[in-house]
Amino acid sequence: MAMNPDMATTSDGAELSRLRSLTGIKWSRDPGDHLLAAWVADMDLAPAPVAVEAVQALVDRRDFGYNRHASAQLPAAFSDWQHENHGWKPDEEDLLPFSDVLHAIDMALWMHTKPGDGIVLFTPIYPPFIRAVEHGDRRLIDCPLDPDGWRLNRSTLEACIDHTTTAILMCNPHNPTGRAFDREELTAVAEVAEANDLLVISDEIWGDLTHPGATHIPFPTISAAADARSLTISAASKAFNLAGLRSAMAYVGHKDLAAQFEALPSHARGGLSTPGAESALACWTRGGPWLDEIRTHLTAQRDHLAGRLAADLPQVGFQLPEATYLMWLDLNQTGLGPDPATVIKEKAGVVLSPGEDFGHRGDGWVRLNVATSRDILDQILDRLVKLLAS
Ligand SMILES: Cc1ncc(COP(=O)(O)O)c(C=O)c1O
Repeated sequence: MAMNPDMATTSDGAELSRLRSLTGIKWSRDPGDHLLAAWVADMDLAPAPVAVEAVQALVDRRDFGYNRHASAQLPAAFSDWQHENHGWKPDEEDLLPFSDVLHAIDMALWMHTKPGDGIVLFTPIYPPFIRAVEHGDRRLIDCPLDPDGWRLNRSTLEACIDHTTTAILMCNPHNPTGRAFDREELTAVAEVAEANDLLVISDEIWGDLTHPGATHIPFPTISAAADARSLTISAASKAFNLAGLRSAMAYVGHKDLAAQFEALPSHARGGLSTPGAESALACWTRGGPWLDEIRTHLTAQRDHLAGRLAADLPQVGFQLPEATYLMWLDLNQTGLGPDPATVIKEKAGVVLSPGEDFGHRGDGWVRLNVATSRDILDQILDRLVKLLAS
């Protein structure tokens, strides 16, 4: 595509040059130094310094051999972190490390459900969940959140369940809407799961990134019955910006599933990389102050985006997310058609996540990642304003 000269002008050229020199997918997947990337859920902000120091120390020591130093301490560190931040103290005995969150989800669905089983997803939904269900020939049970507030509705959930249903796969906080489900909603999930003997997989990777006024409630804290039906998975990777280092922690409250994991050949669960374990340990033990600063910035970015949308782009619909650094935007009234992300990339040079990837309810929507500098967020908005004015 020919480069639009407007797109090259930037008041923060050094930061854009740095981002464009990175090899991570966010800025390198789509070639072109006119593009602004706001799609995949990586932050443009540098990762937590404690994580960088932990990885740097490995490099300085040339310490690349088999290594259990951090991974041995990680269950205790995770349990303490959850306790201090979310009032949940998982038993270390029930924690299993995985290379990443999706790894744990795929394994659980593979072992605990069978082809033809119905798996409930709360839509619109993070695209790899759709793939996780469909790849194994499980049946996707599409349970829509209420678009007016993105609430999880008990009667909608009850109506979705049929005799084939064996699991609910949810993420809380929710990607892409940014909802942090409240006690009433999670209690509904727990009770419907109990009544229908369902496994509840609760992906809580966004749990540390709530905005002021919202609370992340770990699913196992809802009740003893919820705990005993759950696989609850988290990671340091979203909050501390470490997605490429690969590490996650799964709490297996569901005893049959725990036995299935236990019965696996010893390497089938994979394992943590040493940088993944060292960085997660550093964050969960010493990363709190950095995270506080980042959350303040992310809330300011969210509010800035919301303010500019209301002032400059009133035709764009949105609800303020309670968590995550993502904004789920309704572009159906903009005249850009059912696939606005493609039009925006071609005509404005802004790369967003296409709504259609989040299920059929996503047509006409996009997901925008605000975890960048104020200047880059403003450039993205300026381009959208110009496109929609033309
Ligand atoms: C809800 C959710 N789960 C999982 C992931 C990916 O986690 P991992 O890289 O540990 O598989 C993401 C990434 O954005 C996510 O939003």
